[in-house]
Amino acid sequence: MIPQIEPWIGEEELSQLQEVVADRWITEGKKTQQFEERIRDYTQAKHAISICNGTAALYVCLKALGIGPGDDVLVPDLTFIATANAVIMAGATPVFVDVDSSTLTMDPVKAQEAITVHTKAIMPVHLYGVAADMEALLRVARGRGLALVEDAAQGIGVMARNRHVGTIGDIGILSFYGNKTITCGEGGMILTQNDALAKKCWMLKNHGREVKGTFIHPTIGYNFCLTDLQAAVGLAQFGKLPAILEHKRRIRETYERLLGPLDDVAFPDPHPGRVDWFTSIIVDDPAALADALKEKGIGSRRFFYPLHRQPAFSHFPKREFPVTDDAYDHGLSLPSTATIPESDIRKVCDAIRDFFKK
Ligand SMILES: Cc1ncc(COP(=O)(O)O)c(C=O)c1O
Repeated sequence: MIPQIEPWIGEEELSQLQEVVADRWITEGKKTQQFEERIRDYTQAKHAISICNGTAALYVCLKALGIGPGDDVLVPDLTFIATANAVIMAGATPVFVDVDSSTLTMDPVKAQEAITVHTKAIMPVHLYGVAADMEALLRVARGRGLALVEDAAQGIGVMARNRHVGTIGDIGILSFYGNKTITCGEGGMILTQNDALAKKCWMLKNHGREVKGTFIHPTIGYNFCLTDLQAAVGLAQFGKLPAILEHKRRIRETYERLLGPLDDVAFPDPHPGRVDWFTSIIVDDPAALADALKEKGIGSRRFFYPLHRQPAFSHFPKREFPVTDDAYDHGLSLPSTATIPESDIRKVCDAIRDFFKK
């Protein structure tokens, strides 16, 4: 089986984990602090606050911004469902916005059109390693006095306007779920330049207190902490980040070289600053191609199911999202594990060629 994606983990992670076990401090501690420092320096965020996962991170960002019942938050229609569910967790309502056909991220013109008196925030997603149009979205948000929350769950390493994504709006998040560019198994990071928001986020994830070890809690908070076991894996992964990014770039270039001559396969538009988290292709019938690849032991993944078509959101107002529908109807992500050998990429491309020969 050639998986669509799996983490590159081994000796480096084991060695970091051994240190934590030997130290016997396995909850949030020194390793977590080191991991936060690495991510803070890498992204040039003023604050990097670790958290148990990206979904909780989005929820905490919204709560820190004071968003709750009666408020609307704009989210792109093409994303993983956690983007919208975090809004619902905060008691607010996600409002879906169609995406731009080139970046597959929130269309700023359609975002502007979707704003009402209830809108409190815009939450673009940097999807599949491509940055949303932050310049235009910032203009829309600032023009209407709205918060800009960046869902950069898939975005480590992605740059926009010479800044790391997640640090451009008011606040942003990264995810370290198992399929992400670097992983802790589960994990997340909140990024912000804003001291007051950082403090609120820290308290929200830490039982409503400013420091650990005290039992007087000025505000209501929760336990969304990362553990040193996860941070140890994250630190080892972070050490490999430059190599992972380089491997992923080479994987995409190899697919482009081998599949380039095929008329039936197109690649999404290239964008500066992107990371090739997944290499994806655009084809007529991704479901049939995915089935054919599966028969040959090759994993692949359709694009995210549009939010407006999700059974979980069937009670939401019915609207049209033609660009998201088109992306879902034609997109397929190919095996993109950082360590995939070139011989496996050739097998995948041969299988795709065979499929189109029939
Ligand atoms: C766009 C997007 N938002 C949010 C999340 C949620 O992150 P997590 O799985 O860490 O909760 C994910 C991925 O998992 C994601 O891809």
